[in-house]
Amino acid sequence: MDWGMKNRFSRIIRPENERCVMLAVDHGYFLGPTEKLENPRETIQPLLKYADSLMLTRGVLRTSVIPESNTPIVLRVSGGSSIVGEDLSKETIVTSIEEALRLNASCLALSIFVGSKYEFQTLKNLSRLVNEGEKYGIPVLAVTAVGKEMTRDARYLGLACRVAAELGAHLVKTYYCEDFTKVVDGCPVPVIIAGGKKLEEKEALKLTFDAISNGASGVDMGRNIWQSENPVAMIKAVRAIVHDNHDVESAFQLYEENSRSNTSLKTARKKKATTIQN
Ligand code: 5RP
Repeated sequence: MDWGMKNRFSRIIRPENERCVMLAVDHGYFLGPTEKLENPRETIQPLLKYADSLMLTRGVLRTSVIPESNTPIVLRVSGGSSIVGEDLSKETIVTSIEEALRLNASCLALSIFVGSKYEFQTLKNLSRLVNEGEKYGIPVLAVTAVGKEMTRDARYLGLACRVAAELGAHLVKTYYCEDFTKVVDGCPVPVIIAGGKKLEEKEALKLTFDAISNGASGVDMGRNIWQSENPVAMIKAVRAIVHDNHDVESAFQLYEENSRSNTSLKTARKKKATTIQN
């Protein structure tokens, strides 16, 4: 890796512990206004300072994040299909490398759909993006998207991650599964996990803990943070596992403590506002 590439990469995976907490808010690019992400600015703002990096599209970056923010950007540059369209795997590169540079992206993200109808096209997209990224020193995160018909097991996810790494991805995002160490061991670049559908907070923390204990370098998590009752408390608890080696119980305790203090803060603010009005 040259200097620029290393510098950008170290903004995504912290060099001191080789871990990362990436906050994913890119869901609208195919899902539209997802629950609790209807107004991205409102969702992102309180969480920004707790995220090591932010994964999103250029549209949400420009409209919903202040340019003075210091949080490194992972720019999703693949798209072109929606949940109501013909086939979700039919993606192309929708944002140019020049635009990514103008937006000061630290990393580019793109989905691959291994085993799908458009596998070839999405793998070609990845190869092209890696070539562009290498030219300008921007790392690429390959997102191993899983179609409904695919089994999320170590064999399939291991295959998808390895293919991504072989094509030059610098970092791979996948899903946690049984025998996850097989996925990590077969992939020569760091692997991070998506949170997936909203779970109970303790379950999501267990997922995080299991992934980290089995070799994941961190999380690229969305819904399990911002669809939580207490998103700030949740991201703090996820950080405690990823960066401070907390176990599930102590991270959940932290979540509950932070949720309580957040609730009392909100109540105090409401009381104050009512007193002022009266
Ligand atoms: C959507 C994505 C998401 O960023 C990814 O799935 C992480 O979000 P979540 O934790 O909600 O699954 O890549 O295509």
